[in-house]
Amino acid sequence: MQIWDNRERYGMVSRVLHWGMAAVILWQLFTVLARVLLDDESAMYGFFWGTHRETGFLIFTLVILRGIWALVNIRQRPPSVSLPAKVGHIVLYLLMLGIPAAALLRQYGSGRAFEPFGIPLFPGFEGDRIEWMMVPANTFHSWFGYLLFMLIVGHVAMAIWRHRDPEKTNVLPRMWN
Ligand code: HEM
Ligand code: HEM
Repeated sequence: MQIWDNRERYGMVSRVLHWGMAAVILWQLFTVLARVLLDDESAMYGFFWGTHRETGFLIFTLVILRGIWALVNIRQRPPSVSLPAKVGHIVLYLLMLGIPAAALLRQYGSGRAFEPFGIPLFPGFEGDRIEWMMVPANTFHSWFGYLLFMLIVGHVAMAIWRHRDPEKTNVLPRMWN
């Protein structure tokens, strides 16, 4: 079993983080779809949307670990196939980090307690909300969230397109086989 990345393929840690996070982000999409599409009195709405903040916290934690692992391996990863691919991956990282970071800042600023998975992250406080902490997420949390989901669709489409076109470098085996 290959732990570290090399120039030909991603190692086990990068793969587990990539596919594990893909599953968690897919779940996050379901929570958002439930909020947008379902009646907010329904049990399904509560079931899905009730996990949105905890799922976001999990994504935040995992992307920090993944980013550190990517930096440790930066000189021994498969090279990007193009500049747009490289920039696209960096943008995915920035969104996976920035979207939950801003939401967590807003959560703190709201003064409401937050205990994801029973971890007492913010105890909450009495008194007024801290307005400046609310601004970033109120301004862009949902827009950047939708942008992330759309970029992921593009990312998957590019991987499949490259896989099918024999003229192109097939990148799927680097992450899958
Ligand atoms: C939530 C969904 C996903 C996100 C956020 C995501 C993000 C990323 C990122 C940031 C990379 C760069 C390598 C790394 O640092 O891990 C990558 C590589 C890759 N992803 Fe995804 N990915 C997702 C889902 C998928 C899916 C469903 C596929 C399957 C078609 C896929 C196929 C690949 C492939 C083939 C690579 C290697 C690309 C290369 O080496 O140039 N990804 N992905
Ligand atoms: C990568 C992680 C996350 C993604 C992709 C994401 C995505 C989204 C999206 C697309 C919406 C808009 C839903 C709508 O149209 O009604 C939304 C709303 C919301 N999210 Fe997240 N979210 C993430 C993390 C978090 C975290 C960590 C928290 C809190 C700790 C959070 C709290 C909220 C709240 C309170 C709303 C409703 C208010 C609003 O639209 O800003 N989210 N999220």
